[in-house]
Amino acid sequence: MTETANPKAPARAARLPGRQDWSSWPHYQAAGAGFRGYWYPVCFPDQVGEKPRRVRLLGEDLFLIRDSGRIFGMKDRCPHRGVPLSHGNKQFPGTVSCVYHGWTFQLESGDLVAAITDGPESPICGKVTQPTYDVAERLGMVWVYIGDGEEPHPIDEQLPEELVGNAAVLGQRIQPRQGNWRFACENGYDEGHAKYLHRAALWRLFKPMPVWNTTKIVKRGRWIYRVQEKQFWEAEFPGLGRWSGRAWYKAKPSKETGNIGNTSSHREVNPVIAAQEFPGFASVSMPGVLRIAYPTFIHYEFYVPVDEDNHLYVGVMADFHKGLKTLPFYAKYLGAVRWLFHGQFSGQDKWMVEMTDAPPEKLYRPDDSLLQWRKLAEDMTEDRLDRLREQGLDPVDPTV
Ligand code: FES
Ligand SMILES: [Fe+2]
Repeated sequence: MTETANPKAPARAARLPGRQDWSSWPHYQAAGAGFRGYWYPVCFPDQVGEKPRRVRLLGEDLFLIRDSGRIFGMKDRCPHRGVPLSHGNKQFPGTVSCVYHGWTFQLESGDLVAAITDGPESPICGKVTQPTYDVAERLGMVWVYIGDGEEPHPIDEQLPEELVGNAAVLGQRIQPRQGNWRFACENGYDEGHAKYLHRAALWRLFKPMPVWNTTKIVKRGRWIYRVQEKQFWEAEFPGLGRWSGRAWYKAKPSKETGNIGNTSSHREVNPVIAAQEFPGFASVSMPGVLRIAYPTFIHYEFYVPVDEDNHLYVGVMADFHKGLKTLPFYAKYLGAVRWLFHGQFSGQDKWMVEMTDAPPEKLYRPDDSLLQWRKLAEDMTEDRLDRLREQGLDPVDPTV
């Protein structure tokens, strides 16, 4: 028998194993299924009708149903024998009845108001209340609040400020995707990947991408911003040679580094966007909202946790115009943006998020963006738990 090397042994020992877990940010580490205490977009209003629609959010199963025009949310497990209530339907206005034995719950309160197969005098009525969810409609989507029994904050406090009170035309896409929501959010905000991974995407084909740049992260209010300082369009790598983000078919890079759009542009900035005075072009806030400001529109991504392994990618494009001026936006969105940006470009991100496997991880200089985002999430979660405890509530703290 000939001796062969162990095929599992690495050829050489690795250097610097890096961070083995995320215990520096215990709440972030524990938030695989998402952060409680926020509103999340889950579907479009016309997808909710008189029959229950199942939704999985932060690992919880619930359903949405419309009654007299309003959308209600309720936990999807019948307390009687655990059958999904979403298989039931409406037998009386303002209620839903379980398909199995006809337990009937009021949509507004969750109270059990009838157990049809036990007759009108059933003594179980009034003794059972099914958990309900707060639901809102904003930005052309249906949002659900997931909390710990507290009164939800107004949804407008959580939306990007510029979308509250300004007229905007919106293009939205909601897409179920594999992978943990944190990988999707970190991918969205990560400093390094766009200029490399997306350099040949059709959306970027005629635009130059810097090879690298220096950046700082600035906190303002509940957002942190990536502020581009100096961009380098070409670089000489010692011992290797030159590497460039330019090409003959791409536009010439701008001489100045701007912070509206990632490659700067001389286009006039829409007054609503200019008025925000964003310190940097890319910003992120809880519970996983990315905002990229361009001269004429803003692109948002909401990373909605379905469970540990799945999320919803919600892309929203906002153009701050009114009336007839909105028509070119729709033409541009439907004709190009939807396919090139929300489609192919964002498909490259989807591919990476599916493959990301961290921790362990060994971060590099541009990943300061990730460290700052995790810190923001950690700090805001601690603040929220303190607030709830002051109210006398006992929120679930998965870190203890
Ligand atoms: S399981 Fe729902 S009514 Fe029996
Ligand atoms: Fe990307």
